[in-house]
Amino acid sequence: MENKITQTGTATMTIDGKSYDLPIMKGSMGAPGIDVRTLYKQTGHFTFDPGFTSTCSTESQITFIDGGEGQLLYRGYDIEQLAEQSTSLEVAYLLINGELPTKSEFETFENTITNHTMLHDKVESFFQGYRRDSHPMSMLCGTVGALSGFYHDDQHTTEDEARNVAIHRIIAKIPTLAARCYKYRVGQPHVYPQNDLSYAGNFLRMCFAVPAEPYEVNPIIERAMDKIFILHMDHEQNASTSTVRLAGSSGANPYACIAAGTACLWGPSHGGANEAALNMLKEIGTVDRIPEYIARAKDKNDPFRLMGFGHRVYKATDPRAKVMRRTTHEVLGELGITNPVLEVAMELEKIATSEEYFVKRGLYPNVDFYSGIVLSALGFPTDMFTVLFALARTTGWISQWNEMLEDPTQRIGRPRQLYSGATTRDFVPMDKR
Ligand code: CMC
Repeated sequence: MENKITQTGTATMTIDGKSYDLPIMKGSMGAPGIDVRTLYKQTGHFTFDPGFTSTCSTESQITFIDGGEGQLLYRGYDIEQLAEQSTSLEVAYLLINGELPTKSEFETFENTITNHTMLHDKVESFFQGYRRDSHPMSMLCGTVGALSGFYHDDQHTTEDEARNVAIHRIIAKIPTLAARCYKYRVGQPHVYPQNDLSYAGNFLRMCFAVPAEPYEVNPIIERAMDKIFILHMDHEQNASTSTVRLAGSSGANPYACIAAGTACLWGPSHGGANEAALNMLKEIGTVDRIPEYIARAKDKNDPFRLMGFGHRVYKATDPRAKVMRRTTHEVLGELGITNPVLEVAMELEKIATSEEYFVKRGLYPNVDFYSGIVLSALGFPTDMFTVLFALARTTGWISQWNEMLEDPTQRIGRPRQLYSGATTRDFVPMDKR
């Protein structure tokens, strides 16, 4: 990656009466940043920012978010245009390479991905080691990490070719692994990939086909699945992507880095929110119970939060939620499904988004609020939702991992701390304590 941020000014910081100049750096869009890389050397002080609310960890040219405007761009293209007009593999090419592919570039890319979809036969033994009722995210974390045992190449940090093979392999194999997690959980035989199907179509077949019957991919479901993949594919420096970058900054195996990102995504504050949101909507059950849950969400003595609401960056609207809301109505409408949970969701959105508590804090439905409803309409059980998120996000993770390794300013990630524990003291032998 060619570094493009430039200095546009200077910020002066005064500590104990002494002034220090720090460069102000600006990218092509978004807020500028104060470059504090020399701060400790110059002043002997650290910055303190738990949760990284004001800290840029890197320069990046992949994804841009404007939380105030509700804008999400992949390589400059609006997420809504990509979700409506593109396909997941085309968007994957864009994220990795920076430009939309020509027809022949796309055909080569699609062919490469298609030729890597099968898993090594020994991967199956990792699945056999799991209990049948293991959470599919546990299986995904373990088996993605296990791929590092099959494909280890020290040159992935230094050689473009080795890195490209790793990128193509993980994008190709993640749907096969995710589908295997589902099949193992429900006790059905593994369905091998079928390479004449689309990325989404192949995944749906690996999940829902059984040997006893023919399976035809439903184009409505296929398109909705593909849109969900696009919407979840990247989201700049969120918790799981930062985890992948941090793991990768030490030069670790790429599959191990993706396993680290998968683990981070699992939590209910991040990718686990879609599962939590649907469970919450089911628990509310009927529209008349909504006020009770709104009151709980506002009560500071109650740990309950409206799941699928709020976002660290989006404070006006989550543009992914807009597409997801539309897709939910399309899928349910076209498949002729009536779901009482959708009614609760729409009413909850209406009430919550007009309440002062939520408006004041910029709390609006995020992508996960509606995705659970559409994913269950597609036939997935709730514990698979985060797996689907991880499948899609793997393309973003590996693009960010690649960008990090190509960045000449990249160093091992190593935050500092403000220590507030015991000060220096002498060891006391056990019989004197
Ligand atoms: N319900 C009720 N109150 C909330 C909620 C919510 N979902 N989210 C935030 N708040 C309140 C919070 O109590 C705080 O109030 P106050 O200022 O009075 O103390 C204020 O809003 C700011 O919250 P915060 O926790 O400081 O915000 P954050 O940026 O650290 O957290 C979040 C962001 C997404 C973790 C949080 O909004 C949340 O827990 N939402 C529910 C879980 C969820 O839907 N997560 C999916 C995120 S989108 C998918 C992804 O990209 O991973």
